[in-house]
Amino acid sequence: MYLYHFGLAELPFTLTPNTNFYLPLAPHNEALAVLFTALKTGEGFIKVVGEVGTGKTLLCRKLLNEIPEHFVTAYIPNPYLNPDELRRAVAVELGVKQAQRMSVQLLTQRIQTRLLELHGQGHSVVLILDEAQALPEDSLEALRLFTNLETETRKLLQVVLFAQPELDQRLAKTEFRQLRQRITFAYKLREMNASEVQQYIHHRLQVAGYKGAELFSARLCKDITRVSKGVPRLVNILSHKMLMLGYGQGHYKMTVKLLKAAVKDTESIEQNSKRSVLFFSLLGLLSVLFFIYYTVVGKL
Ligand SMILES: Nc1ncnc2c1ncn2[C@@H]1O[C@H](COP(=O)(O)OP(=O)(O)OP(=O)(O)O)[C@@H](O)[C@H]1O
Ligand SMILES: [Mg+2]
Repeated sequence: MYLYHFGLAELPFTLTPNTNFYLPLAPHNEALAVLFTALKTGEGFIKVVGEVGTGKTLLCRKLLNEIPEHFVTAYIPNPYLNPDELRRAVAVELGVKQAQRMSVQLLTQRIQTRLLELHGQGHSVVLILDEAQALPEDSLEALRLFTNLETETRKLLQVVLFAQPELDQRLAKTEFRQLRQRITFAYKLREMNASEVQQYIHHRLQVAGYKGAELFSARLCKDITRVSKGVPRLVNILSHKMLMLGYGQGHYKMTVKLLKAAVKDTESIEQNSKRSVLFFSLLGLLSVLFFIYYTVVGKL
């Protein structure tokens, strides 16, 4: 690999959401601030939505690492679960014993008892779901019913949903209006702009131990932003490929040529850029047709 060539201690652009590489960019920082403020209020649902690869799982891990001690967390990373499986997963996370064997009724009762017990010990309980767009519809409803559990002054369970935008499309349906109303805080993660991409690449290289001269110029970072649309995962994929190609060709500085080769090698990005070329060509063709139509009709 290219570690020795560039003087790196580890790979800077791996795809795992490793919190050691976390850079407090505006969108991620704001999302965390919203989460912590919302958790303080102790109310209902909190939702963080972001496109594929924008850093939701990383934020989820940051939240789990940094959540104040009095919170007890139940973390469900893959919620492809029916209501029953979801209930059991929550029970197991909360430390309800023998949850796998109980009837639904008993299980619900035990969850409630456990929540009251934790509440009595001064804890707040948060259920955190990543990939929440994958929750089946009846599980979403089961989730809403969970948050009905409350004392006279406080909810016994708060829910944080991390999801791709498909969740919003699903929640837009009439049958989810009750759940929708309970989402008291929501945050939409945006993609990075060019200067954030530059900071991002620089930061990851530094964390990985890079000490040399500038590898990715501001100009090149602008191009990377354009082709990756500022999505962190795509920036990682491209940067990693560029480093590999650069190493193979003996370069110590990244170039547009290397970026082009990396794009060519990356299916999702190539399809994206092909799609935008097609879109803009069609747009161009339409404008020409309109122009001809209006000059012809205008003359008649
Ligand atoms: N602020 C950040 N600092 C450092 N790395 C980041 C940041 N945001 C995202 N990343 C990196 O981008 C990559 C994608 O992030 P992550 O897996 O969290 O995306 P995701 O939104 O969960 O994607 P998916 O929708 O596919 O689940 C990871 O390598 C992650 O470490
Ligand atoms: Mg994820």
